Amino acid sequence: MSLERVQELRDQLNFHIHRYYVLNSPVVSDAEYDELFHELRRIEEANPEWVTADSPTQRVSGLVADAFEKVAHTAPILSLANAFNGEDLHDWEGRNRRHLKDDTAADEPWDYVVEPKIDGLTVVLTYENGRFVLGATRGNGEIGENITQNLLTLWSLPKRIPVDRESDLQVPERLVVRGEAFFPLDQFKTWNKGLEDAGEKTYMNPRNAASGSLRQLDSRITAARPLTMFCYDIVDWDGDVPEMQWDRLQYLKDLGFPVAPETIYAKNIEAVATRFEEWIELRNRINYEVDGIVVKLNNKSVADQLGFTGKDPRGAIAGKFPALEKTTKLLDINVSVGRTGVLAPAAVLEPVELGGVIVRNATLHNFDEIARKDIRIGDRVWVKRAGDVIPYVVGPIVDLRDGSERPIEIPTNCPSCNTLVVRIEGEVAVYCDNPSCPEQLVRRVEYFVSRGAMDIDGFGSQTAELLTNLGMIKDLADVYYQDRDALLELEGFKDKKVDNLLSGVEKSKEQPATRFLTALGIRFVGEVVAGILLDEFRTIDALSEADQESIEAVHGIGSGTAESLVRWFANEKNQALLTKFREAGLQFSIGEKPEAPEGGLPLDGLTFVITGTLPSMSRPDAKKLIEANGGKVTGSVSKNTNYLLAGEKAGSKLTKAEGLGVNIISEEQLNELIG
Ligand code: IVH
Repeated sequence: MSLERVQELRDQLNFHIHRYYVLNSPVVSDAEYDELFHELRRIEEANPEWVTADSPTQRVSGLVADAFEKVAHTAPILSLANAFNGEDLHDWEGRNRRHLKDDTAADEPWDYVVEPKIDGLTVVLTYENGRFVLGATRGNGEIGENITQNLLTLWSLPKRIPVDRESDLQVPERLVVRGEAFFPLDQFKTWNKGLEDAGEKTYMNPRNAASGSLRQLDSRITAARPLTMFCYDIVDWDGDVPEMQWDRLQYLKDLGFPVAPETIYAKNIEAVATRFEEWIELRNRINYEVDGIVVKLNNKSVADQLGFTGKDPRGAIAGKFPALEKTTKLLDINVSVGRTGVLAPAAVLEPVELGGVIVRNATLHNFDEIARKDIRIGDRVWVKRAGDVIPYVVGPIVDLRDGSERPIEIPTNCPSCNTLVVRIEGEVAVYCDNPSCPEQLVRRVEYFVSRGAMDIDGFGSQTAELLTNLGMIKDLADVYYQDRDALLELEGFKDKKVDNLLSGVEKSKEQPATRFLTALGIRFVGEVVAGILLDEFRTIDALSEADQESIEAVHGIGSGTAESLVRWFANEKNQALLTKFREAGLQFSIGEKPEAPEGGLPLDGLTFVITGTLPSMSRPDAKKLIEANGGKVTGSVSKNTNYLLAGEKAGSKLTKAEGLGVNIISEEQLNELIG
């Protein structure tokens, strides 16, 4: 036990922390890391005088502050002017060149660095003699708050630089680095869901969560949250740092700071504009929120020469993306009935522009969610449109209420047919249970003819809606009983259109029974489930006669699905419907089960469970392989399991299999079994 060993352990641990949290490529297992960590802790416990604040054991201090101390920044923490498109970016360069017109730099080629504009919380990190000594918020740019204790809990923040002790990089005596702390999106979602499940207040977005987490007086709270950061600037230093922004970022990386991997070098402003375009798509693929790009002149001395307009440096600009989240007023709600009878509430909004689209309606998911978030009519709400998803209401801004807001009530009657609605226990949805509900029928017909179901050429949603509303379709089977003359009477239905429609309808009679079963729109019975069911029962009639127990016994079918099927087939109206379909000539059977090849398949009658990461194939591929050879794959280990196919990092399934004495095999042994 020596101070030397302590230093060695700290260096090694810091190296591994950096590999794991900054480079995402650890070189030791968690167990090896733990061993080093525990050794260090043991020595420190025996020699408390050796403990330092930057020791990896001191990530969480347990120190609770009363308030954040104010700190003056040694250099102003600036903000940026905005550009919104490629033209603005070109104009920006033009203005800058004119500004330097008397200087030789004005005529030289200018190159840039294009970084993501991370939507998090600015942090200002001060290092003295390579040690992290102070972490602050931006505050007003001149004075921020001391959040050192909280920042110490971030794994990705180097406590000592260079992280690599062997590195011969020179670090200035004082180095002030700027970065942005944020929540990775996937972890934000899981974490926020956890809060929700625990009945706690959730965060509206990752940015608020990051800012809330760093402003905790008890750093143990911060430590428990998945915060990380990227660094992008050196704001102050004494001594030498590289002259070019691109080299500075490389230097920060070499010191051990995390730098956004999406950062690029752009040789001119055209390349910058191209990158701006690329980001429209890239934005949806990365695991953190960005609200734009930041474009920086690579040559810092030219940037310095350019100076400022007001508070904004001329040498950098933010290229802002269209906002995908804004606030607006919730004017009303609209309740519609889906094809399965579920009542779906939708928000009627004061129109708001989101990413170039005027949004007037947004989904509110279901009534449970409305109650949970306490959304009221008249509320100012956050609306979000992300990627390709339908805009949705994130939640209300409770502080802006003036008392005139009205709670949203769950309808007692169906908005289309006025039937009393039902709630099924254990489900959040509210249903209209009337099979002849007009709006439900429109939605069911739409689905029946759609691409994923019967795929009827020439029969679109509009036709479905028109014929149903006119009463020419009173049930799904009426799709096959349309009269040519009656169709010709309809506005816009000329000979050709009607012929196309009728021939599409006729052709669809040949669709396999699996599609037909899917198209019926029975709750929980989509394409995959329909396939599994017919694979077992072969005909829709056999399925119709099956009881709950035998349906549930089919592997891959749950009790909810079985219940829904039994309920559907027990309904007389549905039986009459099936008769009508049969008379029209639809396919009710998928034919006999193909004979197993002579001698059977190698895995016939064997049941497998797959767990862990396999060396050469994915789990779905392994499942396909087993099934193609006659075996069955189930999700959980039981005494009926013949083999557990286990890969790396196998967890509880492995333990269970061992307990039950199930054979445990590797991918290689599986291949031997198949031969
Ligand atoms: S540079 C003078 N680079 O965006 C340099 N800022 O107004 C000014 N931000 O709130 C900042 N990512 O915290 C810069 N790669 C990045 C950034 C970035 C996010 C934030 C910054 C500030 C705002 C810029």
